[in-house]
Amino acid sequence: MRPGHRRMFPLGSVAFLCLLLLLPGAARKDRGKTWWDRAKNPRVKKVGDALKNQIKAVTALCQKYWAYFSCQMWPQDCGKEKKASLDWTLPLWSQKYLDILSTWYCSVKECCGRDDCRITNNITGLETDLSIRLHGQHLAQEVILKSVRGFLSVPQPKKPLVLSFHGWTGTGKNFVTRILADHLYRDGLESECVQVFISTLHFPHLRYVDMYKEKLKRQVRDTVKNCGQALFVFDEAEKLPPSLLETLKPFLNHATVGEVDYRRAIFLFLSNLGGNIINEVVLNWLKAGWSREEITMEDLEPRLKAEILKSMENNFGHSQLVKENLIDSFVPFLPLEYHHIRLCARDAFLGRDLQYTEETLDKVAKMLVYVPKDEKLFSAQGCKSISQRINLFLP
Ligand SMILES: *[C@@H]1O[C@H](CO)[C@@H](O)[C@H](O)[C@H]1NC(C)=O
Repeated sequence: MRPGHRRMFPLGSVAFLCLLLLLPGAARKDRGKTWWDRAKNPRVKKVGDALKNQIKAVTALCQKYWAYFSCQMWPQDCGKEKKASLDWTLPLWSQKYLDILSTWYCSVKECCGRDDCRITNNITGLETDLSIRLHGQHLAQEVILKSVRGFLSVPQPKKPLVLSFHGWTGTGKNFVTRILADHLYRDGLESECVQVFISTLHFPHLRYVDMYKEKLKRQVRDTVKNCGQALFVFDEAEKLPPSLLETLKPFLNHATVGEVDYRRAIFLFLSNLGGNIINEVVLNWLKAGWSREEITMEDLEPRLKAEILKSMENNFGHSQLVKENLIDSFVPFLPLEYHHIRLCARDAFLGRDLQYTEETLDKVAKMLVYVPKDEKLFSAQGCKSISQRINLFLP
């Protein structure tokens, strides 16, 4: 917290405002009946339900403010607050008190909407994590760090940052996304500024695509309105319906749409498209006796892009996003080799404070399947599900 930002609020005031919010009768005259009379009467059950919801919502919010307040008073007892999820169906009069509370809350914390969503942009942390926790991805590490650092160093970029991650499953696309979110936002992927869409989960039925379009547009707009620097992640991008890709185009293309400025937003597309061509390039490279760390973006990116444009059966390659160069970088994730799998296993043990030996790491790495058939160089699953596999080696 910035020191100049700290403003103490009398203890009683938080409690008092919360109390006001919980007493609708105090603010709304209703034929002389108290609110619990109305709540008890079955004929006005609807009112009772609304009231219950309202109390639940207010209680959750007050708990949050209270937690923050008590953190200031008794920092030693302070844990990370849980995010309150609220149903914004409160009547107008209580909105007024909520506004007073949230204005106070936002005067001492950084807010978007009513939630805390601090943007941390910890580039040092990002750099450290990408170099220590991500294995076997020298290209992704370099390109992502450079792009993000460059993008964030400009106060008003010309357009949003759009990166497309490509590679086999388990090579670290989701892992990097998490690292990014963790270092750009205090609450990481949980932040209100971060929206993750998984094609098969969020857009499963083609016949509802019109509904998805509207929802997506609204969600992108609202998030950027609240946060400015918002992060949107589209996992399984190869399965995004074409018309949804078109829906996204204006956001990636123009600086502003309507009243909202999208230039500080970040869009990530994750897919396994082009994974085979990446693997082929790396395989040939290794067979020629060169080290994989010598592969450069110039060796890979043009072939990757050509492959994405060419593969007939995918929407992503055929979308205007790719054709009109709206994507800043195609980031290749290379296939992982035996020694990378060992590193992932080591991290998994360390992450759970468990002892390991070199022998155990070998045992874990040997459980996986390696391809191609002859060379057996690359883990078919990457580092996926390593943390489940180490369960077998627990004492
Ligand atoms: C940035 O991240 C690093 C590593 O996670 C951490 O040690 C450091 O305290 C962070 N810096 C800030 C300003 O949060």
